[in-house]
Amino acid sequence: MQSTPSDLITLSGRSSDYVVQDIVNSHLSTPGKFIRPRIIELFGKVFEVDQEKLLLISRSAELIHTATLIHDDVVDEADLRRGQRTLHKKTSNSQAILAGDFLLAKVIGELVAAGEYEILKTISEALEDIVEGEFLQDQLKKKGTLNKEELKEVSRKKTGALLAWCCSSVARVSHSSEEIILKCHEFGEKIGVAFQMIDDNLDFSEISGKDMNKDLKDGLINFTTLNLLKNYPELFYIVHQMRGTPCDAVPWSENQIATAQRETSEEVEVILSEAKELFYDISNSASCSNILEVTKEVFQFIDQIKERTK
Ligand code: IPE
Ligand code: IPE
Ligand code: MG
Ligand code: MG
Repeated sequence: MQSTPSDLITLSGRSSDYVVQDIVNSHLSTPGKFIRPRIIELFGKVFEVDQEKLLLISRSAELIHTATLIHDDVVDEADLRRGQRTLHKKTSNSQAILAGDFLLAKVIGELVAAGEYEILKTISEALEDIVEGEFLQDQLKKKGTLNKEELKEVSRKKTGALLAWCCSSVARVSHSSEEIILKCHEFGEKIGVAFQMIDDNLDFSEISGKDMNKDLKDGLINFTTLNLLKNYPELFYIVHQMRGTPCDAVPWSENQIATAQRETSEEVEVILSEAKELFYDISNSASCSNILEVTKEVFQFIDQIKERTK
């Protein structure tokens, strides 16, 4: 049986009168795109994992993802998420931080209750990486400059780590070899980095449901803006000067952004081709009877990442 969005994100609990649970449940009524559950479902087909285990992995991923977004919005001082006011804007920084912590506690509890200690251990490692990625990004923002390698390291950690966990956990619960688990981890990480790069492109589009241009105005450089500053180094000083100042006008043109976005998309294309290669290796070792059909679905999923508009 296919899981529903509410199976994936609704909290129910030890104590029904926890107020934080109500706050989180009402906040989660604007769900995201569920890309992590989608790749988990596809990997579930590859490794023929039962629905109950897949639901547990998907729920863990989605709740951790939500917690990191709630915290990220505090860090980035963002006003909008999924077209809605962010949780810290609806409540307060302290309540948003505590709500994120509550979600993390839920995941630990659910994985322990299911006796899934191995993926609990690896999710704690993924969380360490996510925090490390956000931390590193913050340090680089304060430093004021960064290069492509540093940015890749940030996105491997802040976004790649969770997608790597999603794919490798499905292989792990199906008792695949360490070699295959590692390949699934690498595959997820690549998907995560590519996804982050497209997300960076979408920071310059109103449909993203987030504050357009905000990160660059705050001096936070992403893949797209790194390309922009490489093409137009004169913008660097201007961006530096306007850091944190409340202004609506931006010193870059739509054309300049479009060129930078195109360059980012080309890099995404390369990473996603590498992910497809890796998937061939993974699929060769899978016992799944309709692997050709599943490979087609995985490739469609990969292609949707680069064509993503939201
Ligand atoms: C946004 O993730 C943050 C990144 C990791 C780039 P998603 O785009 O998956 O967020 P939702 O859940 O669909 O809103
Ligand atoms: C999202 O990162 C948070 C994590 C990946 C942990 P970003 O700050 O780059 O994403 P958006 O633009 O807010 O969704
Ligand atoms: Mg953010
Ligand atoms: Mg951020």
